[in-house]
Amino acid sequence: MKLKFLAAALAVAATAASAQASAQRPIVIKFSHVVAPDTPKGQAAERFKQVAEMLTHGRVKVEVYPNSQLYKDNDEMEALQLGAVQMLAPSLAKFGRLGVREFEAFDLPYIFPSKTALYNVTEGEIGKSLLKKLESRGITGLAYWDNGFKVMSANKSLRVPADAKGLKMRIQLSSVLEAQMRALGAYPQVLAFSEVTQALKTGVVDGTENPPSNMYTQKMHEVQKHVTVTNHGYLGYAVIVHKKFWDGLPADIRGALEKAMKEATTFEKAIAQRDNDLALEAIKKSGKTDVYVPSVKEQAEWRRVLMPVQKEMEARIGKDLISAINKEAAK
Ligand code: LMR
Repeated sequence: MKLKFLAAALAVAATAASAQASAQRPIVIKFSHVVAPDTPKGQAAERFKQVAEMLTHGRVKVEVYPNSQLYKDNDEMEALQLGAVQMLAPSLAKFGRLGVREFEAFDLPYIFPSKTALYNVTEGEIGKSLLKKLESRGITGLAYWDNGFKVMSANKSLRVPADAKGLKMRIQLSSVLEAQMRALGAYPQVLAFSEVTQALKTGVVDGTENPPSNMYTQKMHEVQKHVTVTNHGYLGYAVIVHKKFWDGLPADIRGALEKAMKEATTFEKAIAQRDNDLALEAIKKSGKTDVYVPSVKEQAEWRRVLMPVQKEMEARIGKDLISAINKEAAK
């Protein structure tokens, strides 16, 4: 009889000890992304880590994995849905693969005439309702992060759209970007971000598009002789978490993480444009790439050729959404 009590007491003690250990074990957030640590996204992920760990007094540990170290953009979304990572910040183009095609609206040529126009959309009702659409995919959207307007690059000078004819151009997986490259008479090739520099170097593709911060930090300019500042489209991000994980967090922890995300988002938006300007300067200074700014007439030609993509994509993305975005952007 005594022995039975002793065994029960030992079992209770063991359970208490393990509960105490797990109470002390920090909650780990694996935050995986595909760009370099010194990009706007890379720096903001680090800022989120610092603030989150500080505000939760070590109860949360954020592990940031940059540069596709953990997952390439082909599989990071799946990893999040399976719970192998808890946080990502994929470019908005990459949400189409989840079946949420509306996000591809962000890829439309010339949809945002300025950053203010962009923020009218991301910080308004449209932005919020798009993030809501992710919930049915097991994903919670926390914030939009900024990058910048895209430039085009190749080993030949791309002064007008016709110069891109026949070139193999790397794109992200997005029907809009595919249509955009086809409008130029180019051949779109989908490649993971981590593979782009090597593909440009070996001639698997001839050219690409990205904001300068991504080009510079991946050293794409070292294998591209010409960059044209077309600013024809936008590239930005949504920071997302695994919904079950997020909903299962203690309320005080979730509140602290929301605060940390707010702080990281403000920081990210403050540095994105500056970093892109600096990256473009650095590309010029490298002497490896000629940076060309199209004349007013040439810019009008890029616009003339690419604008019809907005109409072409109405059936896929939704005419109402495109006109609602255009309306917000014009405010
Ligand atoms: C790309 O694949 O070109 C970008 O989405 C990379 C990034 O995350 O900025």
